[in-house]
Amino acid sequence: MSITTRLDAATASVLRRAMGGAEAPAKLAQALHYAVTPGGARIRPTILLSVAMACGDDRPALADAAAVALELIHCASLVHDDLPCFDDADLRRGKATVHKAYSEPLAVLTGDSLIVLAFDVLAEAAGQDSDRALRMIRVLSQRTGMPLGICAGQGWESEAEINLSAYHRAKTGALFIAATQMGALAAGQDADLWEELGARIGEAFQVADDLRDALYDAETLGKPAGQDATHGRPNAVNLLGVQGAIRRLKDILGGAIASIPACPGEAMLADMVRRYAERMTPVAPALHQAETPR
Ligand code: IPE
Ligand code: IPE
Ligand code: MG
Ligand code: MG
Repeated sequence: MSITTRLDAATASVLRRAMGGAEAPAKLAQALHYAVTPGGARIRPTILLSVAMACGDDRPALADAAAVALELIHCASLVHDDLPCFDDADLRRGKATVHKAYSEPLAVLTGDSLIVLAFDVLAEAAGQDSDRALRMIRVLSQRTGMPLGICAGQGWESEAEINLSAYHRAKTGALFIAATQMGALAAGQDADLWEELGARIGEAFQVADDLRDALYDAETLGKPAGQDATHGRPNAVNLLGVQGAIRRLKDILGGAIASIPACPGEAMLADMVRRYAERMTPVAPALHQAETPR
């Protein structure tokens, strides 16, 4: 079964359960569905399943649960991030953000419900292997909350001085570290060995996101463009220039490949990182526009 098929099936079954029946509030149930489907690039759960497969994937249902839980946390973080009290964004994945489509109270509750649901999915999966599930719950909670998770990342935006590497590592890197570590744990491997790969992919992803934010328009991105400039946030393109940021992206990804732990699927994972490197690097027209003097 392909990774996409696995993710689609596992996500649909979790969402069906979470939306409930006649006794659940209908609008909130619809908002949960709206926030998760059709979904974005699903890069984090894809990395998680790729690592699990590279490590033997001997408990596939546990890996599927971990992948869904991770993506639910990511979707929740986007719903909250788009709220007026954070980035005040109207567009996400090419459609209206949850608070625009449903209301602010429902967007707050959607994010909250998805976070709780993620941990419920992992708790339920403990029936298959309680030790692995417990370890995954710890990794996901640490990479979601304070002091190392997304909450910490978003919290940096309320500080007068931002520690850029701590900010990026918590805001973006955290869920990539969760992806590699939970993939390894789902397959019964040691999580510590997999932190560096997740951290490096996360760092590369942040540089790529900075490039896209600076170079692309909202229609191409499916979300507002130029957000870093609008909110006065540090961005790799401001610091390094377009070509400098692309060089940095390639350096980081080279380091990511070198950091893949020894495992049966090592070559497959190196290929995956190379494929992501191509997809993450902005395409020629945007680069041309950015480098041509007006
Ligand atoms: C966007 O993540 C948020 C960042 C951390 C920059 P993605 O680009 O993975 O979002 P989707 O899930 O594909 O929409
Ligand atoms: C969102 O970060 C990452 C989260 C932790 C929610 P950004 O605000 O930089 O990403 P986009 O541009 O909204 O996707
Ligand atoms: Mg933000
Ligand atoms: Mg945002």
